[in-house]
Amino acid sequence: MGLNEEIRRRRTFAIISHPDAGKTTLTEKLLLFGGAIHVAGAVKSNKIRKTATSDFMEIERQRGISVATSVMGFEYEGIKINILDTPGHEDFAEDTYRTLTAVDSVIIVIDGAKGVETQTRKLMNVCRMRKTPVMVFVNKLDRPCRDPFDLLDEIESELQIRVRPLSFPVSSGPTFKGVYNIYDSSFTAFMSNDRQTVAETVKLALDSPELDTYIAPFTQKLHDDLALVEGVYEPFDRDRYLAGEVAPVFFGSAINNFGVQDLLETFIRIAPSPRPSTTQTRIVEPTEPKMTGFVFKIHANMDPNHRDRIAFLKICSGTFERNKNYLHVRSGKQMKFSSPNAFMAEKKSIVDVAYPGDIVGLHDTGNFKIGDTFTEGEQLKFTGIPSFSPELFRYIENADPQKFKQLAKGIDQLMDEGVAQLFTSRLNGRKIIGTVGALQFEVIQYRLEHEYNALCRYEPIQIYKACWIDSDNAEQLADFMKRKYTNMAVDKHGHDVFLADTSYALQLAQEKFPDIRFHFSSEF
Ligand code: G4P
Repeated sequence: MGLNEEIRRRRTFAIISHPDAGKTTLTEKLLLFGGAIHVAGAVKSNKIRKTATSDFMEIERQRGISVATSVMGFEYEGIKINILDTPGHEDFAEDTYRTLTAVDSVIIVIDGAKGVETQTRKLMNVCRMRKTPVMVFVNKLDRPCRDPFDLLDEIESELQIRVRPLSFPVSSGPTFKGVYNIYDSSFTAFMSNDRQTVAETVKLALDSPELDTYIAPFTQKLHDDLALVEGVYEPFDRDRYLAGEVAPVFFGSAINNFGVQDLLETFIRIAPSPRPSTTQTRIVEPTEPKMTGFVFKIHANMDPNHRDRIAFLKICSGTFERNKNYLHVRSGKQMKFSSPNAFMAEKKSIVDVAYPGDIVGLHDTGNFKIGDTFTEGEQLKFTGIPSFSPELFRYIENADPQKFKQLAKGIDQLMDEGVAQLFTSRLNGRKIIGTVGALQFEVIQYRLEHEYNALCRYEPIQIYKACWIDSDNAEQLADFMKRKYTNMAVDKHGHDVFLADTSYALQLAQEKFPDIRFHFSSEF
């Protein structure tokens, strides 16, 4: 098979949701339909359980497990599918944001009883920024759910994207009858409650006289609903989906294997194959023969006997080969990898070749950073792998003066891994750690002690948000920096960051300094 054909048959995507909407269950069911696993429960959940908040050893153990489930590849009807898993726990949202930089599309899972929840909204902001095509799966129809039209309206307004239902449910909860697939005009009756294997379903056309026996007393309602769908929503336009403007919506019940196959079948037909990637200098087409790729995630090995890390490389163009020399652009060094990993279902194995859209796991002894580019010699730097505004801040201090060097090295490497972000205050040179979740502070402290033999302590600091700033008005920028000197810091790349104490202070700054741009991600 040639490079073009390999690209054409690849789909690399992530499933995102608010915790508990059913992401893990849907992932597992997709693997089940794909034949990658045979019974439910075979995939270790990447979910960090809520009870673990006070026990970060447990969290780290679970994160260790998640290396194996970070990428799940499988083949379905000749299509190579790569699902990039994202941590369920919202404290690890930054990991999810970064994973979204490596996918070509996204499936959003929404709980049909709860509708759009906070985490989904935040993750959708990242998708919107990147114009990532998204599909929506409204889950848990076996439970009493909200009215489908209300849900569709809420998705449109809360996620700021047009929707187009491609399936439509008949009732929900105890009277749930099934789902009508608008895309291929057939009704699938909800009958089985078999959660373990792929259930047989009955497919019927809308005009089938038999339909009534399955969906009475909702027959007329289905006809009315479908007429309303056709009246209200524009016909599905794949180009608009690919442009990230319209999200096709499916309904089902992941735990009951229901509606999942419709989703998968449609997904492989309409979801994009690997798309071009942007760099600081040019657009890289996946079909270019020379290999390029970037590191979007680094995972520390939780086994204390093996201190190495795994860097996840997304292949953007060409063919990646084992034992071939590649340029690590940032260091200028040639590197070759004798045992790169590929990820199939829940297993990882050594891979000889990989294609655009694939994710390769590289062993790293501390040399790689998020965003690092590999090429066959060209000086390229992929863009679109930003850091996002953290939400929680603390001063970090050395708690053992003998271990200054170890602490500095530890902080440096943990920041390269993307565990948190480091800012240095302009005022007093103190180091400030910014994270998206409280757990990271504990994780950092624990890992500094156990992996780097260094001790740190935290001190509170009142910051509402860190924003990267720039302006075309040099005078105003200088004035701002002078007035806000006590709130200014630099990030690890030396970029200016404004640390707003409160949302009011930020709003005031925006009003008073109209020529200054306040950015909520590091790439602008
Ligand atoms: P997440 O990864 O998005 O956090 O969600 P996950 O799949 O773990 O699902 C959260 C809970 O919702 C699980 O129940 C799961 O069984 C349930 N669930 C998922 N899909 C459906 C569905 O279609 N219908 C119904 N009724 N429930 C669904 P749990 O009790 O938290 O865990 P478990 O003990 O069942 O594993």
